[in-house]
Amino acid sequence: MARKPSSEGHEGWDDYAPFYDWENARTLGRRDVPFWRNVAINAGGEVLELGCGTGRVALPLGRAGISLTGIDRSEPMLARARRRISRSRLARHVRLIRGDIRDLPFRPSAFSLVMAPYGLLQSLLRERDLTATLSAVHRVLQPGGTFGVELVADLPAWEEYRQRVSLKGWKQRKGGTHVTLVETVKQDRARHLTIFEQEFTERRGRHKTSKTFALTFRTLSVPQMARRLTKAGFEVTATLGDYRGGPWDPRAEVWILLAKRSGRSSRSQRSI
Ligand SMILES: C[S@@+](CC[C@H](N)C(=O)[O-])C[C@H]1O[C@@H](n2cnc3c(N)ncnc32)[C@H](O)[C@@H]1O
Repeated sequence: MARKPSSEGHEGWDDYAPFYDWENARTLGRRDVPFWRNVAINAGGEVLELGCGTGRVALPLGRAGISLTGIDRSEPMLARARRRISRSRLARHVRLIRGDIRDLPFRPSAFSLVMAPYGLLQSLLRERDLTATLSAVHRVLQPGGTFGVELVADLPAWEEYRQRVSLKGWKQRKGGTHVTLVETVKQDRARHLTIFEQEFTERRGRHKTSKTFALTFRTLSVPQMARRLTKAGFEVTATLGDYRGGPWDPRAEVWILLAKRSGRSSRSQRSI
């Protein structure tokens, strides 16, 4: 039976949690981590990571002595981050909060850097969700503070395919759990959404279990995001096309925007 695309971008992550680190170790890995570490060191104060997930970025930043708060809606994703923080004795540096990024539960001007790595803002599928989040970030960021956003590059160009084995390998060699990911990619061009339907099958001896879920992301280009940041009271200071700080162009594989919170209130911005 055909699956309805999810109506909320935060859906799917609870089911994804047991496989997230396994998959990312084979894809993005930690290529973006030194970049975010440098941005955080330069910001020189409290850091907020939106959608911190399993702590892929938060933990190495905590290890570098950066004081970071991570917020995420998904309890199973946060549970993994919590275990890693406690194993690495990083509780002094990294705090985790369960919550929604559209309504940030922090005092005004609490952070010198707010960061949204790895396409997090594309989990907000409606314009009003993005507007609420940008306004919440504006409120919790110090005047002059930095907002860093990475977008997943060029989602609409993602080829559509059905039921392709996109990854397979051992999850735990000891005890022998083998994982296969079968993926379907759909484009909903009318709604500017890209939908990844994923089926993870785990085999351990003769025992086999499968989990199927969908993750949906909104298309946003760098110029579109820049306009929304300006409207929300930020000044875009850099658009970057790689993790070493090289300039962005539409064919770049990495899409990053850095912005400063300007003194103006987000409500006083003229519409664009
Ligand atoms: C791509 S993962 C990123 C995790 C981590 N930042 C990283 O780079 O590995 C996206 C995370 O955002 C969370 N998320 C999505 N929508 C959210 C929302 N509205 N509020 C809070 N968290 C959200 C998901 O639960 C998921 O853990």
